[in-house]
Amino acid sequence: MSRLTDLIAKAKAKDPQFGADLEREFRALSSRLSFGLNFERHRPEAVELPQRTVRRGDKVRVLPPRGSTAKGDARLWLVKAIHKAKKTADLDLLDATEAEPQTVAMDDLIVIAEFRDTIYPGLVSTGKVTRGGDKPWHTVINGENYHVLKALTWTHRGKVDAIYIDPPYNTGAKDWKYNNDYVEGDDLYRHSKWLAMMERRLLVAKELLNPADSVLIVTIDEKEYLRLGSLLEQTCPEARIQMVSSIVNPNGTGRPDALNRTDEYLYFVRFGTARITPQPNTNGKAKVARWDTFRRHNPVNIRSSRPNQFYPIYVNEKTRRIESVGEPITPETDRHSVPDILGCVAVFPIREDGTEMLWSTLARVARKRAEDGFLRVGKKEPDSPQVYPIMGVYSGTIKDVHEGRARVVKRREDGSADIEYSESMLVLPTTNWSYPSHNARAHGTDLVPKIVGRRFPFPKSLYAVEDALRFFVAQNLDATILDFFSGSGTTAHAVMRLNKQDGGNRQCISVTNNEVSADEQKALREQGLRPGDPEWEKLGICDYITKPRVQAAITGKTPDGEPIRGDYKFTDEFPMADGFEENAEFFTLTYETPIAVSYQTAFARIAPLLWLRAGSVGGRIEKVPAAGWEVVDSYGLLVELDKATDFLKATRKAKALRIAYIVTDDERRFQALARRLPEGVEAIRLYESYLTNFAFANGEDA
Ligand SMILES: C[S@@+](CC[C@H](N)C(=O)[O-])C[C@H]1O[C@@H](n2cnc3c(N)ncnc32)[C@H](O)[C@@H]1O
Repeated sequence: MSRLTDLIAKAKAKDPQFGADLEREFRALSSRLSFGLNFERHRPEAVELPQRTVRRGDKVRVLPPRGSTAKGDARLWLVKAIHKAKKTADLDLLDATEAEPQTVAMDDLIVIAEFRDTIYPGLVSTGKVTRGGDKPWHTVINGENYHVLKALTWTHRGKVDAIYIDPPYNTGAKDWKYNNDYVEGDDLYRHSKWLAMMERRLLVAKELLNPADSVLIVTIDEKEYLRLGSLLEQTCPEARIQMVSSIVNPNGTGRPDALNRTDEYLYFVRFGTARITPQPNTNGKAKVARWDTFRRHNPVNIRSSRPNQFYPIYVNEKTRRIESVGEPITPETDRHSVPDILGCVAVFPIREDGTEMLWSTLARVARKRAEDGFLRVGKKEPDSPQVYPIMGVYSGTIKDVHEGRARVVKRREDGSADIEYSESMLVLPTTNWSYPSHNARAHGTDLVPKIVGRRFPFPKSLYAVEDALRFFVAQNLDATILDFFSGSGTTAHAVMRLNKQDGGNRQCISVTNNEVSADEQKALREQGLRPGDPEWEKLGICDYITKPRVQAAITGKTPDGEPIRGDYKFTDEFPMADGFEENAEFFTLTYETPIAVSYQTAFARIAPLLWLRAGSVGGRIEKVPAAGWEVVDSYGLLVELDKATDFLKATRKAKALRIAYIVTDDERRFQALARRLPEGVEAIRLYESYLTNFAFANGEDA
């Protein structure tokens, strides 16, 4: 039942005449459809929180007995009292009076958060993978996306450059849940529920996008594309919206008595000055090709890890030209014993701290690249001990030169090449996409099991997501990208590929819940399991697919520890087993109380939010600092104001500091301290800033 009809029924029960009048007015109004999209906002959504222990004052549902597959009691109850010894709780029915209070075993209760409730979010880290040195971290968050979006309003308001989402398509085949129930084809309110679900999330997501320059990309198919188009126009009237039709299944999906469907759609919703970067005729990159250090960045690529990639590159000391590339030396050979070449210095891949690392390619490949002008000696950076930094272009760029998508526009004195994608080779995309690389079966459905050894229903083609994003983030090497229906984690994977192609530092926030499929849910219930049981949770999408996929993509190894078989294709081809030099951390959303936040007992779970707000880069302050303050790479935290002098001194020394969090209730002292911070460092008062953000960001359904 919709929210309005629900309320009318209640009104009728209390006062029949008043109810009938109300109903007549409602009917008159609903027959006068205004232009635009008309739908009912429905009962506010609610989410079950199986991990939360039940406390007095919580809203709960009573679960059906273990082993039962029945729908169970959908009503919400309020916990009035808890009897610890008996392990029971006294419940009153919420929002109604017709039911008797009841006493129920605590085990049979599940805590509920309604979307109209104010929530105070936290995050618990559940693992990480580090291969990207000091690059910013990608994050994967397990949680109800509406609440994670709310959490991000504190960490990322106006800071997201691109959102890519692939929401449930509302096929009627139990592909999504509204209020914990699968929405089926015969549900009269199916479209209206879907619109209500999408609208709530889009409105919060919009607060995260940079209004001056950002894009929202939404994929959809024929079931909801018309309604979604209208919804986007209504929620984003200031944006420029275009729709692309994209062939993702060239063989077509048969529908009874209907045309064979080969395509689906992408809406591109552009805010502010967001521009589409023209691309080479085939998939490609930015206009001027980038150079990067030829030494491997990743800390694991030390000399001993591969025998053939440690060799001297001889540089002429006067001209700074690369004269020749020597042979690899065995791990036991002292690098200082290599033969001398007159007037040259032998350069090895040595990190700033003196660690012997690897060059990016074998000596034979480096020799050819040096001859072709794809290697050069870069400038000496003032603070770097590297006198002759060896620089190279990416293999994808070299391929583009060979295949005519890019050209050498100039040769420098040292013979090295300046490469550009000329304007005539760059084109704006059309609104009809037909690329073999976007085939969802070949490069999504069949790719995911190769990486994680598990199947996922309807992932996107990795290359399709990569291409869609490239048009908007090609020029922004530090872009923040969000996917809050991330499923198998294709978007994060695509962002890592983009970074590899141009040396970018983009970061992706992936959000998805830990649902199991409808069939799995039935089977698990029959086995007597419930959400929250470890055997159930480990099969949830986030824990079973999203996190392992992102981890496997980075390490190049499947969850079983085997190298991933096969190569990446299209724009940038290389073995999947190489992985990516990236960092990712995995989190689960928690629900805190404002008291625990202000008294800092929830600090461990607020800590990741402080780090996220400061850019998810560098170290994190995990505990309330015993010294009263602490400064890490991108932020500092002052909890004892009488330690302010030491704190301020440390903030001046930190080179990349963005935020100073100051814990105080005294606004004047806070302001006085804020003025003494180094320029460009933002001061944030805790926990006032956090608490007010969520107190005012209350759900729209109240
Ligand atoms: C169509 S899939 C996305 C697939 C993804 N693009 C890929 O390539 O793998 C949508 C995902 O959103 C998740 N989801 C649906 N409703 C959600 C919600 N309310 N909160 C969090 N995640 C949700 C589902 O678990 C599902 O995995």
